[in-house]
Amino acid sequence: MMYTLAEAQKLIEKHLANIRFPEEPGELYDPVRYILSIGGKRIRPALCLLACDMFAGSVDSALHPATAIEIFHNFTLLHDDIMDRSELRRGNETVHLKWNENVAILSGDVMSILAGRFMNEAPGAVLRNVNDEFLRTAIEVCEGQQLDMNFERRLTVSEEEYLKMIELKTAVLIAASLKIGAMLGGAAERDAAELYHFGKNLGIAFQLQDDLLDAYGDPEVFGKKPGMDIVDNKKTILMITALREADEKQKAVLNNWLKASGFDPEQKVAEVLRIFDELRIKDTVETLISNYYRSSVQSLDQLNTPRERKSELYAFSEYLMKRER
Ligand code: IPE
Ligand code: IPE
Ligand code: MG
Ligand code: MG
Ligand code: MG
Repeated sequence: MMYTLAEAQKLIEKHLANIRFPEEPGELYDPVRYILSIGGKRIRPALCLLACDMFAGSVDSALHPATAIEIFHNFTLLHDDIMDRSELRRGNETVHLKWNENVAILSGDVMSILAGRFMNEAPGAVLRNVNDEFLRTAIEVCEGQQLDMNFERRLTVSEEEYLKMIELKTAVLIAASLKIGAMLGGAAERDAAELYHFGKNLGIAFQLQDDLLDAYGDPEVFGKKPGMDIVDNKKTILMITALREADEKQKAVLNNWLKASGFDPEQKVAEVLRIFDELRIKDTVETLISNYYRSSVQSLDQLNTPRERKSELYAFSEYLMKRER
């Protein structure tokens, strides 16, 4: 059967809601239940199921691996929110503030291990390959996160370095979700690789858009506190583009803010945003995002599968391009 994106998301939601995590110790498992219950788009597991379905694989066989990917993703969010000093996640208080940092660290740790356990439920015939793909990707996400942290302390980061960083921290997990789904669906290696390529471009577009929404999104919809990337000195695509296009005066203002300490965060966000606006950074970044979405769609065109089997992934690309959360 062919699932739609909405059906795949619903299937994952139901599966996640049915998992029984232990009651004790509450400080370890309550945050796991919490983070999994406050929303989330479930795009990675949905991509995994849709990719499996596309090759006429049994979607049931992909449910545990897809769940593993979502739990792994949620683990990265718990730790990422500590690293980024974030207060809001999916419109709710972050785990390290609702409980404390130690709780967020250890609940995150146990989620990363639980993810491994769910991945182990993949059918025996593909288990080794699926696990290898997952573990390689998980390591890459850590590498990307470290680069993201390193870049906070640097005054300049090239667009090339930035793209490599977001490929690692975000795009490879989206790509691997598709590839693992394809492997579970019995796809030929060439097709699985093509889907991975699609996912990488989709994932890069996705992170560029996340950067854009952090500055320009509607906080009510986006669910994160706006402007935090500016406060944290993140070398987002917005900051990198602004530093490249600024005149001497604008560059001096940006650099002063990047070196400032003991500032008023609201003032910093307002002044940096003013320069972004002067330089029309939003337009430039939107164009870049469309280019990556276009590249992703081209990889999908390349995929040697009847077009009707690909329709949900085309729709997925479209849905992500228009997302506001
Ligand atoms: C947030 O991912 C982290 C990034 C890679 C930008 P999502 O935007 O997929 O977060 P949820 O799971 O839907 O909340
Ligand atoms: C997310 O990058 C990458 C992860 C691996 C979690 P961000 O730090 O931009 O994600 P958000 O904006 O907090 O969701
Ligand atoms: Mg981060
Ligand atoms: Mg973050
Ligand atoms: Mg972000």
